[in-house]
Amino acid sequence: MTTTTDLSFIHRFEPATEPGRPPLLLLHGTGGDETDLLPLGRMIAPGSALLSPRGQVLENGAPRFFRRLREGVFDEADVVRRAHELADFVTEARAAYGLAALVAVGFSNGANIAAAVLQLRPEALAGAALLRAMVPLAEPPPVDLTGKPVLILSGAMDPIVPADNAARLAAILMQAGAAVMHQTLPTGHGLSQADVTLTKTWIDQL
Ligand code: MLT
Repeated sequence: MTTTTDLSFIHRFEPATEPGRPPLLLLHGTGGDETDLLPLGRMIAPGSALLSPRGQVLENGAPRFFRRLREGVFDEADVVRRAHELADFVTEARAAYGLAALVAVGFSNGANIAAAVLQLRPEALAGAALLRAMVPLAEPPPVDLTGKPVLILSGAMDPIVPADNAARLAAILMQAGAAVMHQTLPTGHGLSQADVTLTKTWIDQL
């Protein structure tokens, strides 16, 4: 069953079908929407509640979670504003649907906003799987992420995310105390079967 309650983001919500499974916050990439990652969510976390908002920024009609000036160059003031809006939505949705702390699963632009939420509103997330993520904020404020589980999956042939940028993100989150697992897969920007398998294994041991 999918429900949509009137909250601050257009979204889909699928209730849990098994107790005790971590609820997921699914965050799509540029041009996606709230339906995009539901099939992925069902594969990587069968039985979990799924909360999937649509990004509120439009880039030539393509939904995103924050504005960018061009590919890989972000409007950081907008990143900050939108990360807070998303964290507020998470609070609203947890109250509306009675959810435990959410684990974000973000792809590309969705992974980048999830990383920004971790850095700006760490209490909003129990952890995050960041698929093809890059550094969202050049100078993030100090944050304590002690013990927060973070999975970063990068693509060795990714034309959008330079390898050193993904490595820098992993280092920043690790320095803040997060329990970071960073793996680079022999693939590009798109998701592969290995992303599904590794993310499922990571969620299973949360
Ligand atoms: C971004 O803009 O967040 C990244 O460049 C990834 C993308 O959405 O293409």
